[in-house]
Amino acid sequence: MDKKTFYITTPIYYPSGKLHIGHSYTTVAADAMARYKRLQGYDVMFLTGTDEHGQKIQRVAEEDGVTPKEYVDKIVDGIKKLWNLMKITNDKFIRTTDQEHVETVQKIFKALYDKGDIYKSEYEGLYCTPCESFWTETQLVDGKCPDCGRAVEKTREESYFFRLSKYQDRLIKLFEEDTEFVQPSSRRNEMLNNFLRPGLEDLCVSRTSFNWGVPVTFDEKHVVYVWIDALSNYITALGYLSDNDENFKKFWPADVHLVGKEIVRFHTIIWPAMLMALDLPLPKQVFGHGWLVLEGGKMSKSKGNVVDPVVLIEKYGLDAIRYFLLREVPFGADGVFSNEALITRINSDLANDLGNLVSRTTAMINKYFGGVIPETREKGEFDLELRSVLASTKTRTEEYLDKLQFSAALAEIWKSVSRTNKYIDETMPWALAKNEENKARLAEIMYNLAESIRIISILIQPFMPETPHKIWAQLAVAEEDRTWESAGQWGAYKQVSPVTSGEIIFPRIDLEKEMEALAEIEAKAKETAGAKTTKPALEKEEQTQGVALIGIEDFTRVELKVAKVLSCEKVEKSDKLLKLKLQCGTEERQVVSGIAQYYTPEEMIGKVLILAANLKPAKIRGIESQGMILAASDDESGKLVLVTVDGDIPTGSRVS
Ligand code: MSP
Repeated sequence: MDKKTFYITTPIYYPSGKLHIGHSYTTVAADAMARYKRLQGYDVMFLTGTDEHGQKIQRVAEEDGVTPKEYVDKIVDGIKKLWNLMKITNDKFIRTTDQEHVETVQKIFKALYDKGDIYKSEYEGLYCTPCESFWTETQLVDGKCPDCGRAVEKTREESYFFRLSKYQDRLIKLFEEDTEFVQPSSRRNEMLNNFLRPGLEDLCVSRTSFNWGVPVTFDEKHVVYVWIDALSNYITALGYLSDNDENFKKFWPADVHLVGKEIVRFHTIIWPAMLMALDLPLPKQVFGHGWLVLEGGKMSKSKGNVVDPVVLIEKYGLDAIRYFLLREVPFGADGVFSNEALITRINSDLANDLGNLVSRTTAMINKYFGGVIPETREKGEFDLELRSVLASTKTRTEEYLDKLQFSAALAEIWKSVSRTNKYIDETMPWALAKNEENKARLAEIMYNLAESIRIISILIQPFMPETPHKIWAQLAVAEEDRTWESAGQWGAYKQVSPVTSGEIIFPRIDLEKEMEALAEIEAKAKETAGAKTTKPALEKEEQTQGVALIGIEDFTRVELKVAKVLSCEKVEKSDKLLKLKLQCGTEERQVVSGIAQYYTPEEMIGKVLILAANLKPAKIRGIESQGMILAASDDESGKLVLVTVDGDIPTGSRVS
């Protein structure tokens, strides 16, 4: 009988810069799933790749003085190296600049045109270049791109359109009938209520204002809209409409497309509509995971080495990083990435729980039996309970993995780690070892420990590519006792050679020292990043009357919010400072401000002001100030006037 197949994809990455640890989140998750399915005996196709066309890439390449292809080649190389380093087991890496992909996208575009689902018209609208997205006036948030908050550009040009509106009813039906199609369900509701039910407009699917894209074969001044080009990768990679479509026949429809939450819309509305138009089956599921953010903001290259996966792997090891990514946050929810949380997890779950269990066990087998567990053994108290927990861990882990609940699956495995550690405390082998009569009982305890670790080592394979091998080498686990199946069978462990007490698999990290070292790395990275970026910015035409211009992304980094003064008093022994209590949404903030010469505390109460809300807290005269209120200053007299809000609006509202 043919093996069952499993097809999983990650989004294809923009090669517009170095990838940070957040990017590797989707790929590590997809890799864990692919490994798991292979272990279960599936014939797996795991696809990842790069999304290389579009205006954004063309622009950055121009700025770099190279052709777009030269630009992407270098970055794609780095991305492939990163996936190698992270032991990502993708079966195929697609680049949208691959000739076969380009040709198939052209065929898809033509097929849709011939069918009447793509037609020519004129486009007038708003385009967000960084997101490569078109928006209607009503979709904008405060006049800006609803996805990234940056400015949009008015565009007018002759364009081809895809009849997305035609598929609205079928899409709504799909969402209503197949509740598994979009997961988690919160994202399904968001798509239904915010996009599908309000109504879909036809989508502009070609551009003429730049040429870095797939040319439309029957109208060469047009290039295909990047999202049509990019989404098609999931079938072009399988050979759809090519001479060799064996993989397409074998693997399509995909079992799951893993994507970050901000691109769920493209994958659950535009992509299925394209497939409907092509009369192809739909993917079984699109899973929209949450974002990993850094404490205090979005992840970006400017945060330096602390988010560089290469640096993190070098410091803490690949398995620790992969474990943390999938354990820390439930897949689907947003989570905070911090080095402190990472180190804390490594120390508790990996060094203390699993690492200790392995080193204690191998050390005891060596000490009491010279590395070989005797065949004469005696069962005793606590054995049955340990056995029942361990033998059933596989089933429970699988239940979670089948739902892409990586964190819950790991928690389940770690319950077994804890149970086994507890078994050592319960049976107290060190006490038994004092008396020769207890030898058979001691042997059984050692066997049970080794067997529990064998089961655990098999179950962690999808997440950790290196640790299981280290454990098998130390415990001398036979090849045939490492199969996924055998993790559900208690008693399979047999030693093929003496147990060795090898390297510590997860050394403990000194949290305090490490945090200091990291702060230094970060400061250095900031210095060099600053030196690199500020100089050319000032050399360019970006100076207006001596004022350096900044991009909207710099401006939006400052979080400005409406706040109301609840109480106010003078700061002791200072004639300049006032201490204010502010209401800002549901939060209360304390702010120290140098306005005492221009406002009395009584005057301040009730004023509605603008607060720079994401400034790092600072101590002023020993008093913590959590943000800054905005005031205009007259350069000549030094006079300060507060910036207040014109009109009734709740506190906490964003100012932009
Ligand atoms: N090129 C498009 C996808 C086209 S798929 C047909 C794209 N590329 S991307 O490089 O911007 O993002 C790739 C993936 O990385 C997305 O799933 C995105 O959500 C994910 N992440 C990028 N930063 C992230 C975090 N900080 N945290 C978690 N995932 C994040 O979108």
